Amino acid sequence: MAHISNVTCSMASWKETNAGLIAVGVFEDKSLTPMATAINEASNGAFSEAIDLGDVKGKTGESHLFYVDRKRVLLLGLGKKDKFNSNAVRLAAGKVSRTAISKKIDSVAMECFCEKCEYCQSCGEGLVLGSYQFLDYKTGKDDGFELKSATVLSCDSPNIAKGAAIGNAVCFARDLGNHPGNITTPTRLAEAAKEIADEGDMKLTVFDREEFTEMGMGALAGVALGTDEPPKFIILEYMNGGDAKPKVLVGKGLTFDAGGISIKPAGKMDEMKYDMCGSATVLGTMKAIAALKPKMNIVCIVPSTENLLGGKAFKPGDILTALNGKTIEILNTDAEGRLILADGLSYASEQYDPEFILDFATLTGAVLVTLGHVAAGVMGTDESLMEKVKVSSKNSGEKVWELPLWPEFCKQIKSDIADVKNMGTPGQAGSIAAAAFLKEFVKKDIPWIHFDIAGTAWGGKTTSLDPKGSATGWGIRLVLDMLNA
Ligand code: BES
Ligand code: MN
Ligand code: ZN
Repeated sequence: MAHISNVTCSMASWKETNAGLIAVGVFEDKSLTPMATAINEASNGAFSEAIDLGDVKGKTGESHLFYVDRKRVLLLGLGKKDKFNSNAVRLAAGKVSRTAISKKIDSVAMECFCEKCEYCQSCGEGLVLGSYQFLDYKTGKDDGFELKSATVLSCDSPNIAKGAAIGNAVCFARDLGNHPGNITTPTRLAEAAKEIADEGDMKLTVFDREEFTEMGMGALAGVALGTDEPPKFIILEYMNGGDAKPKVLVGKGLTFDAGGISIKPAGKMDEMKYDMCGSATVLGTMKAIAALKPKMNIVCIVPSTENLLGGKAFKPGDILTALNGKTIEILNTDAEGRLILADGLSYASEQYDPEFILDFATLTGAVLVTLGHVAAGVMGTDESLMEKVKVSSKNSGEKVWELPLWPEFCKQIKSDIADVKNMGTPGQAGSIAAAAFLKEFVKKDIPWIHFDIAGTAWGGKTTSLDPKGSATGWGIRLVLDMLNA
């Protein structure tokens, strides 16, 4: 676990702290934050000079190191004052941890930049997220250095600790994603769920191949035929909300996607270890729930398997029967995510009376073509729930864009010989066709939104919060905001 896990608050002044790095801020209009003003005065205007010389512009992402009173002071650019928000605070906090790690400074303190601690959750999140590194397989590189402590000064908000807990949960999800397919197996996902269940007083149920096949999950069972690695159907139930309807989260736990008999090209196939990032999002959310213990009922469902080409593997042309009884003509074994989700969504619809269902999946390469690594594609059946998704997307800084789930697209997945087929018209609206397929497995009256995170789960721009070449843990902050956890 290479990240800081605990962030504290303190009302101490900058002079009283003995942190190895103290971070304060400057806006684009060149105005200094209160603590920056105090340090500027104590240093005979060191910041003012740098501003006058034009070196400090106050732009987002900028940072400058000063030495004042034998202390290291990092002056952070905070961007435009009228645009300053929780996202800016999160990025700035990430920068503080990043800078400390790159300079091997083991303790940091940063000023609380809020007026009424309204951005403090983001501050806690940013300090933890910026400290994340995935070094588990770098042997001999461990020099014992560790960022040990992070403190937010001029602050006593409980939202700092809440943000840190959420940051931890995101790092937990990143680890699941970053470990390779031979480590993050379906069995490992079930173990991770067990850890969360123990921590959060949740009920864990895991069905193995024999059990879920017997139960009628023919779609998951079909995909799992090609692998000897034991598949799992994982259910976590957090019931702390009396008789309220549960909110159900479903995540694609495809721990390695070779494409099956419709095999993928070799280039970048290694990246298909990330094909379980949907499950990392929902398990990460449950990890945060375990720490925050909100009063609500939440269920998390993870169908999990590899998609390989063993001698028993399912084939194009095969017909599978999902848990809800619908038959599926297989046209491409590489469209397997929607198959395992079909059973996850059917199970959610049948076993619970959900207030709503959200599913997360690295489902289509097409969403990457549409939205790049910038936003997740979202589609669903309920306008007011979609509105909530969009609000939480703004609050969390995790961008989504709605694609239309129109009847024209829903017709494209009807099969001539079975109820549905597992792909739409080749080369057309692939992400929507996948969502149209999923819709067939959600009971009609249940509000449902699908998140296609194939572009956002890994591979985006390196920022102070997202390290290069790492899973992002995308979506956890958005869902927690939506749940009001
Ligand atoms: N896991 C992939 C989607 C994917 C591809 C995510 C590339 C990230 C990068 C999914 O299982 C898949 O293979 N989808 C196919 C569907 C097609 C065969 C209809 C795709 O997108 O090519
Ligand atoms: Mn696939
Ligand atoms: Zn896949």
